[in-house]
Amino acid sequence: LFAAVELAPRDPILGLNEQFAADTHPAKVNLGVGVYFDDAGKLPLLACVKAAEAAMTEAAKPRGYLPIDGIAAYDKAVQGLVFGADSAVLKAGRVATVQAIGGTGGLKVGADFLKKLNPTAKVLISDPSWENHRALFTNAGFEVGTYAYYDADNRGVKFDALLADLDAAAAGTVVVLHACCHNPTGYDITPTQWDQVIATVKAKGLVPFLDMAYQGFGDGIAEDGAVVQQFLANGVDSFFVATSFSKSFSLYGERVGALSVVCADADEQKRVLSQLKIAIRTNYSNPPTHGAQMVATVLDTPALRAQWEEELAGMRVRIKQMRTLLVEKLAAAGVKTDFSFITRQRGMFSYSGLSKAQMERLRAEFGVYGVDSGRICVAALNSKNIDHVVAAIAAVV
Ligand code: LMR
Repeated sequence: LFAAVELAPRDPILGLNEQFAADTHPAKVNLGVGVYFDDAGKLPLLACVKAAEAAMTEAAKPRGYLPIDGIAAYDKAVQGLVFGADSAVLKAGRVATVQAIGGTGGLKVGADFLKKLNPTAKVLISDPSWENHRALFTNAGFEVGTYAYYDADNRGVKFDALLADLDAAAAGTVVVLHACCHNPTGYDITPTQWDQVIATVKAKGLVPFLDMAYQGFGDGIAEDGAVVQQFLANGVDSFFVATSFSKSFSLYGERVGALSVVCADADEQKRVLSQLKIAIRTNYSNPPTHGAQMVATVLDTPALRAQWEEELAGMRVRIKQMRTLLVEKLAAAGVKTDFSFITRQRGMFSYSGLSKAQMERLRAEFGVYGVDSGRICVAALNSKNIDHVVAAIAAVV
């Protein structure tokens, strides 16, 4: 039966973890996968999460099935965070939100729903995008193309080309947009540029699918979510938002995410929700309890929420410090390339501009792991490993 099965290549991001674990380099550093580590190099367990979990253990409950669309309080908390608790669109009952297995689960539920809705639609992702976007939408049955994004020469976004590509897309094309902290480049577009994107999306009848996996890692929770408000303010009446709490709650392994679909009215919302539930039921039946319950508890308990916002700000600030330190130390090490662009990038990642060959040398000779595309996770740098990383980069440039 399996004689003709081919060995698949390892995952470009998660596959690096396996290679890293097997590496015996004494000073190895994992800047591959997008995971935040604290300055001691430890994966944080947020105090707000610990407190929510303790309260849940104290009042331990039996584990029945959740509703297909998840914990109602969780879905409501997600809506408050993404759209603003007083949002008119929520009051009008226009948003269908379902709990999902991580942000990836939210994307997949949305992709399955969209495929049924419009089987011939194409999907456009940014060039480059998160490695899994293409694979996920391809596996959901879509033809996936790209719109221009990264400008290697000017270290930024090729905005005119981006807009031209969106302008040339056929009506109904699904456009996957990074709400903030673009993965992998770290370059975001400005609010004014978002207005232009939104105008094009509206004029051309495109279907926006926002991936918001890093809310709070750029400039703040509200700042990073502002694009959602821009879509609403500009009267885009149907769009998708995938949410992930992997990073912002440091709950990677709990797979806590959501999908929200903004609809034209409350009647549409009911029908859309019913279809999202079919996508969930036929993929994994219904979601797990633990992680979403913790997030809902934190978001709904004012003291824990305040604590979360503070802890998230702490992560955001530390990443920015690492960006500045990296640039300073590279210059101090005599590296001629101007790396100051790293401080203009947002979120966990830096598209370093290093080539695949240079990334391979970083791994082989220094045990410094980044993605072949040149993406490094700045959120995994700390005051102890940064000198080794700097020495390694200085050696390969
Ligand atoms: C990443 O881009 O490294 C993260 O989003 C983790 C993943 O699942 O790829």
